[in-house]
Formats: sequence, structure tokens, C-alpha cells
Amino acid sequence: MSVMKSFYLETFGCQMNVVDSEQIVGLVQSLGYSSVDSPEQANLIILNTCSIRARAERKVYGHLGRFKPLKQRRPELIIAVCGCVAQQEGQRMLEKVPYLDIVCGTHNIHRLADMVRDAELHRARHVEVDFLEADKRRRLFPERAPSAEVSRFVTVIQGCDNFCSYCIVPHVRGREVSRPSAEVLEEVRLLVEQGAREITLIGQNVNSYGCKEDDEISFASLLRKVAEVDGLERIRFMTSHPKDLSDELIDCFADLDKLCKHIHLPVQAGGDAVLKAMRRGYTRDQYLGRIERLRRVCPEIRMTSDVIVGFPGETESEFEQTMDLLERARFTEIYSFIFSARPGTSAADLPDDIPKEVKQQWFDRMLALQEEITRQYHQMDIGQVLPVLVEGSSRQGNGQLFGRTTWNRIVNFDGNPDLVGRIVPVRLTVAYRNSHLGERV
Ligand code: SAH
Ligand code: SF4
Ligand code: F3S
Repeated sequence: MSVMKSFYLETFGCQMNVVDSEQIVGLVQSLGYSSVDSPEQANLIILNTCSIRARAERKVYGHLGRFKPLKQRRPELIIAVCGCVAQQEGQRMLEKVPYLDIVCGTHNIHRLADMVRDAELHRARHVEVDFLEADKRRRLFPERAPSAEVSRFVTVIQGCDNFCSYCIVPHVRGREVSRPSAEVLEEVRLLVEQGAREITLIGQNVNSYGCKEDDEISFASLLRKVAEVDGLERIRFMTSHPKDLSDELIDCFADLDKLCKHIHLPVQAGGDAVLKAMRRGYTRDQYLGRIERLRRVCPEIRMTSDVIVGFPGETESEFEQTMDLLERARFTEIYSFIFSARPGTSAADLPDDIPKEVKQQWFDRMLALQEEITRQYHQMDIGQVLPVLVEGSSRQGNGQLFGRTTWNRIVNFDGNPDLVGRIVPVRLTVAYRNSHLGERV
């Protein structure tokens, strides 16, 4: 009998799931499991899932299908699904997949170790998808597996109260709960001790941190406290909701040296009728006003955004408003999506009245416009010498290092691995689609 137990974990979705997966690793390591790269070798398989867009559930069911032969060969194999699809599907998932052992919801990760142990000992199957009340959730934050990575996430707020009409997140993550600032700071210090030099404060909407009745301080105040942590070089945050982006927070870009000059500020649409139907809580002019202030306060700031095309009822002229907004805003990058109806959200009940070809055509036009704007930024940067925080060996495996500029742009360059964790000046020489090539100066 082998005493070595191993787990295989796959993570999908957003930054919240990345942190949840680090907690999952911490928990299963405490049970004696060590990580392996393939499901074939594992005694425990975990999928941490995302349900943001169309066919998410189907993809997870399809994925699980690949593990069925493994389970047939090794009945003692434990298979678990965590994350947003687990939350959404719950009991149904256990019924549909007879070889699945554990369905663990987004508020229940702290229970995973117990569930795995029970599956080991008794072959018991578990579904735990109950939401916790705010106070309990605030206090439960399982320890993450230690890591020496230079750039780490720290959760400041969980859940979302916004209920944008297209979005599944509030349904699968529950209501907004801010973490006590002392705990956020403690975690930042801990990660810096482990080797982190850059911290990204995360939440589905970090701007509503501290906004509830019993909360203590604003997000801007929290940011200023985090900036005081010794040894921390850079701070980022995401995601920001335009309706909650305060002047106080914008001003941080002017006077907090550690704060990177980049903000991800999803606009979703450029026309007021669609923004209203999306329930975003701002108008096109208000959005443009926010970015104008950001640029006034911090002229070198760069912005990225998310856009959805083909929202039910979107007209040609509404779409043109989005195109116009992209030209005015001049984001360095956008993440664009064709609308997909998510069961349980209010937009799912709206008639999906735009022909598929039209949506695709709009999508392609938008992409072409943005690609041109993005290309202009990248060309303009060639020759510049910029501070780059070195994060590690380049993913291309060619012996180079990689790091990022304050604008979150990846730069690959030749250098000694002992530079990892340091900010060094690099001249950008060649622009590729997803990165720049540079040389150390
Ligand atoms: N909390 C963030 C992002 C959440 S999800 C925010 O408020 O902006 C990431 C992106 O997925 C969203 O910004 C949106 O552009 C996209 N998205 C979410 N639901 C979608 C849907 N039903 N169809 C298409 N895109 C969607
Ligand atoms: Fe979804 Fe809107 Fe919440 Fe973002 S703010 S997670 S888009 S509901
Ligand atoms: Fe996906 Fe859940 Fe994040 S739906 S985007 S993993 S909150």
C-alpha cells in the first residue's frame, strides 16, 4: 500500500478562484496530499470551477467525463468539484455524476478537509453549498499554502451585491462581506515575509469595501495602510466598479508611490439604454467623467476594461456608442464577450433578439478597433526605459526573465535569476501581442 497521497487541481475563472485554490491546496496538504501534474497519478482530483459564461456547467460535466475511466480503474480515487459551478449545481451534480464524491460550494471551502477525510474513510459522498451569514464568513479564511511568488492576491471583499442583470456572480458568491482591515494587513505582511513584493487587493467590486453599516474604513484608507507595509514595493487592485469609484480613491493614484498606474475599470457598454438594462448604475457620461478625472489626477495612468456585445435589445446605434466610447477612452486592452444568457439572472428572461451573425460582426469590429489602439500603445513604448518588477523565469522557457511594468505589461529580457523580486530598469525593444521584449540597462 502506498502511503504517498497526491492531488491534482485545476482552476478556472477569476482571481477569487485563484485565492480559493490556494486555500484548497493548504487544506489538502494538511491531510498529507502533495501536488501532481496529471489526473492519472492522483488519489484526489479537484476542479475549481467558474460559471460566468455560456455552457459553463456543460463544460464541467464534460471535463468530469474524462475522469470516469480513472475512477473505474481505481475506485478509491476521490473526485471533488468546488467553485461557482458547484455552488450553482449543488445536489444535482452529485445525482448526474455517480462517480463524483464531493460538491463544495463557494462558502464551504473550509469544510473540504473534513469532506475528503470522510470520503477516504467511509466512501461517503458530500454536498455542501449553504451560504454562510456575513459574520461567520468574515472570520473564516482558511490559510493558504505558502508560496515564494513575487506577486500575490489578497482578498479584501467577498461576494457581490450589484446584481448586474446579466451576471451570475451574486448568485454563486453571495452578498458582499468586507474583511477586517487588520486581517488584510496581517495577510499582506505574511505574504511579504514569504517573498511577495507586489500585492493585488481583490474582490468582485473592491470599491464597495467598507461601505456597509458595521464596516470600519474605506477602500482608499485601506490602500494607504497597505502602502505602509515595509518590503512591499507595489500595490494593485481589482475589480473596480465605475459607480463606486470615489474621488478619494482616484486621488490615491496621485500620491501613493507604490500604487501601480493601472486600473481595470469594466465599462460593459457605451450606450445609456444598454447600461440601464444591464443595471450598471452609471451613464456613459459618468463613466467618461471618471476616466477624465483619473487622467487629470495621474496623467500616466493606463486603463483596461471589459465589454459585452449583443446584450438583449442592443441596437446598431447603441453599439456605435460603444465603439465611440472605446475611441474616447483609449483603453490599452479590453476583454470582450458576446452576451450569454445565464439561467437565474434577470437578463436571461429577456428576448435574445439580435441575430447571431450581427453579434459576431459587432464583436469583430470592436476587436479590430481595439487591436489598433492597443498596437499604437505598444509601438509608442518601444525605446522607453521602464521600471520592471522581475517575477521569475520567462514562460517561454528560453532562459529569459519576465516581469511587469506599472501598466501590467509583461516584459521578457535576459538577466540573472537573482534579480527576481527586484525592480530594474528595462528598455523595451520589440512589441509582441502579449508581451514586450526588452534589455536591461
Ligand atoms: N466584477 C467584475 C467582473 C465580473 S465577471 C465587474 O463588475 O466588472 C468578468 C466579466 O465577464 C464581466 O466584466 C463581463 O464583461 C463578463 N460577463 C459577465 N457575465 C456575462 C454574461 N452573462 N455574458 C457575457 N459576458 C459576461
Ligand atoms: Fe457581476 Fe456586476 Fe457584480 Fe461585477 S459588479 S460581479 S458584473 S454583478
Ligand atoms: Fe467565475 Fe465565479 Fe469568478 S463565476 S468569474 S469564478 S466569481
